[in-house]
Amino acid sequence: MLGLRLLSSSFFLLGLITTTTVEPTIAGKVPAIIVFGDSTVDAGNNNFLDTPLKCDFSPYGRDFDGGKITGRWSNGRVATDFISEGFGLKKTLPAFRDPEYTIKDFATGVDFASAGTGFDPATAHIMNVMPVQTEVDDYKKYIGELKEYMGEKKTAEFLKDAMYVISVGTNDFMENYYTPLRTSAYSLPVEEYEVQLLGDAEKFFTDLYNAGARKIVLFGLTPLGCLPLVRATWGLGDCYDKYNELAKIYNSKLESLVKKLNNNLKGLRLVFSPLYGTVMDMIEHPGKYGFENVDKGCCGTGMVEMSFMCNRLNPFTCSDADKYLFWDSFHPAQRTAKLVSEIALNTTFVQFMNN
Ligand SMILES: *[C@@H]1O[C@H](CO)[C@@H](O)[C@H](O)[C@H]1NC(C)=O
Repeated sequence: MLGLRLLSSSFFLLGLITTTTVEPTIAGKVPAIIVFGDSTVDAGNNNFLDTPLKCDFSPYGRDFDGGKITGRWSNGRVATDFISEGFGLKKTLPAFRDPEYTIKDFATGVDFASAGTGFDPATAHIMNVMPVQTEVDDYKKYIGELKEYMGEKKTAEFLKDAMYVISVGTNDFMENYYTPLRTSAYSLPVEEYEVQLLGDAEKFFTDLYNAGARKIVLFGLTPLGCLPLVRATWGLGDCYDKYNELAKIYNSKLESLVKKLNNNLKGLRLVFSPLYGTVMDMIEHPGKYGFENVDKGCCGTGMVEMSFMCNRLNPFTCSDADKYLFWDSFHPAQRTAKLVSEIALNTTFVQFMNN
């Protein structure tokens, strides 16, 4: 029963990624990286929520500076940490819900993400994590604190110049729509569910824009069918085509939404960062990237373990996560996050460099 629950609770999260070396002049123009999303970028906010969806125990964090356990779904840092570093800002972004940090820390970058969430509020309810709407509420609280910290006028400039990074979407399908856990849209065809999701996404971006955000990067879905958990569960070890197709189609719809929002909201620069092709190339050409294993996670058997199933008592965990694309059955390893971040910095974020 416990095993079953853990297995089903492993249909959530997901991952995305992205960063790099940005020229100093550009770096100076971005005062902070501000992150929203799910487990792919959660820096530890779920540690402070009443949810079973946590990873604040070893071996998570074993390759983090000092082996620190932070609540990141990785053996080390996540993609947005590398993006922050690539912009010449701090190497790790602090989780907004972590009482250890204050506005002084958050003033050069902050992470509002919550593992297990999606654009659909019902997705977050499954594991009692923060809906993205709550992440936006936290952002508004943050704005209030910034105003006290640097004054009203500087805050408006800061919000406009900051770089916003959004990584979310997998859980709406993998934790919600395609599982028995789904609480919404039960009988909708997937196309109609996507219409609902795109409406939720549009509202989310409009809220951010209205609060002052202008430079935003949205990460697209990765090849969901090639997640180790999905391979083991539906693909008999191979990538499961149905979910890869779904990811491609949904990504194209997100790109259309991005165009529409840029047309409708004056001054907005929302850029879609495609991860699908980047990650698929890693899966198809592992040697090119120095990977020895791209179909199983490092943690445990690599087929199903994540969260509580990925723990220090599991005897099968690999010794060198750098050789693995995936850290657990759902999330990229630290080196993967770094690689994807560098590619995104060079291809997506570079678009913001000329003004
Ligand atoms: C990103 O661009 C830098 C500078 O041009 C280059 O040195 C680096 O290899 C690139 N990284 C990737 C992953 O493409």
